[in-house]
Amino acid sequence: MNILILGSGGREHALAWKVSQSYHCDKLFIAPGNAGTKNIGTNVTIAVTDFPAQKNFCKENKIDIVIVGPEEPLVKGIYDFYKADDDLKRIIVVGPSAAAAQLEGSKSFAKAFMYKHGIPTAACAEFTADNYEKGRAYIAEHTLPIVLKADGLAAGKGVVISTTHEEALAAFEEMIIGKQFGEASSKVVIEEFLTGIEISVFALTNGKDYQIIGHAKDYKRIGEGDTGLNTGGMGCVSPVPFADDAFMNIVEETIIKPTINGLKEDNLEYFGFVFFGLINCDGKPKVIEYNCRLGDPETEVILPRLETDLVALIAAMDNGTLEDVNINFSENSFATIVAVSGGYPGDYQKHLTISLPTIPAEQDTIIFHAGTTAKDDLILTNGGRVLAVTSEGKTLKEAVDFSLTILQQISFEGIYYRKDIGFEF
Ligand code: AMP
Ligand code: GLY
Repeated sequence: MNILILGSGGREHALAWKVSQSYHCDKLFIAPGNAGTKNIGTNVTIAVTDFPAQKNFCKENKIDIVIVGPEEPLVKGIYDFYKADDDLKRIIVVGPSAAAAQLEGSKSFAKAFMYKHGIPTAACAEFTADNYEKGRAYIAEHTLPIVLKADGLAAGKGVVISTTHEEALAAFEEMIIGKQFGEASSKVVIEEFLTGIEISVFALTNGKDYQIIGHAKDYKRIGEGDTGLNTGGMGCVSPVPFADDAFMNIVEETIIKPTINGLKEDNLEYFGFVFFGLINCDGKPKVIEYNCRLGDPETEVILPRLETDLVALIAAMDNGTLEDVNINFSENSFATIVAVSGGYPGDYQKHLTISLPTIPAEQDTIIFHAGTTAKDDLILTNGGRVLAVTSEGKTLKEAVDFSLTILQQISFEGIYYRKDIGFEF
């Protein structure tokens, strides 16, 4: 089968790496890709949201599967565009319809879905400009910390956790009156703060059946010891030590099954990955968010750990045999550590020259590219998160140490990475 992966980050490099190993993969294209994907498949200069350009490309190259990396094309209706087009509708699009992608695209929609289907989540209320004063009163009486979420997509910056009422009121005003995120913050969800360790769980579904394809813990803060600003993710580990069979069974019974049943009941067309962002509240997992895609950098650890052929899983999702697939995971531990450009998540420079080491044959390490671009023979930085170095080890510590050893040999001006990924385990 000919496969097109949309996106340009570490997640898409990991997807390309995994898909390229499949016996079912003939030609592999990545749009737009990065300097890493270029060595596995063919990079194509088409934007992830340019559906008409993708149409021409898919027709010319007889594409059979489109795997959508980021959320933007999904929320903008890529699935519906392909399915409404006579030339494209036979293509397997890995991603939900725009209606179902609202689970990620609208926090308010996701909350209503969870309440309706009895899925455990934080208590919440929502406000707009129309009941702004009520919102202020609600905040003033709320326990601390308090969580404010812009309803729509806000490039990962739409969540504010405040430890004082003044700060929360200022953030609320900025979102609703100051239109901080435009239309995305015209509605704000105010939520109870949940205490516990976060874990990301991933399933592949056709809206009826599902398979859990992995889980990971993401380290979101820029600084060691989980301090400083929030980022897209600075590293991940998988498996997560506390996510034993008993815990995963609770996740499956109380969250995953009710979610898939909810999709069915609400006629939400969904063929793709579901990312359950959970908090483990003393053994009781609750949903803090749904995403309708894989995570980044979670993908960089869950796909190396997944031994089953991903393309076979996707084909089974499409033809309704997903539950028959025997899914296998490595017994080893996996860690990825993200190298970022100095200044990230604030301003940072681009187009710095990267020097990469050769990986010793005895070491199971992969350097996934995130924000990189190739220029002549050089590899240059092209984003805040530049590389994700994933290793496999007999223990989590061994995996982390392997990645750190390689990171010490990678250089670009201002390189920064956390040395404490997996510190609490
Ligand atoms: P999101 O943009 O939805 O991924 O949220 C960003 C981060 O805010 C999450 O990864 C959590 O660390 C945190 N967060 C979101 N909702 C809650 C909550 N209800 N309680 C505690 N932390 C939360
Ligand atoms: N690593 C979190 C995300 O992909 O949203």
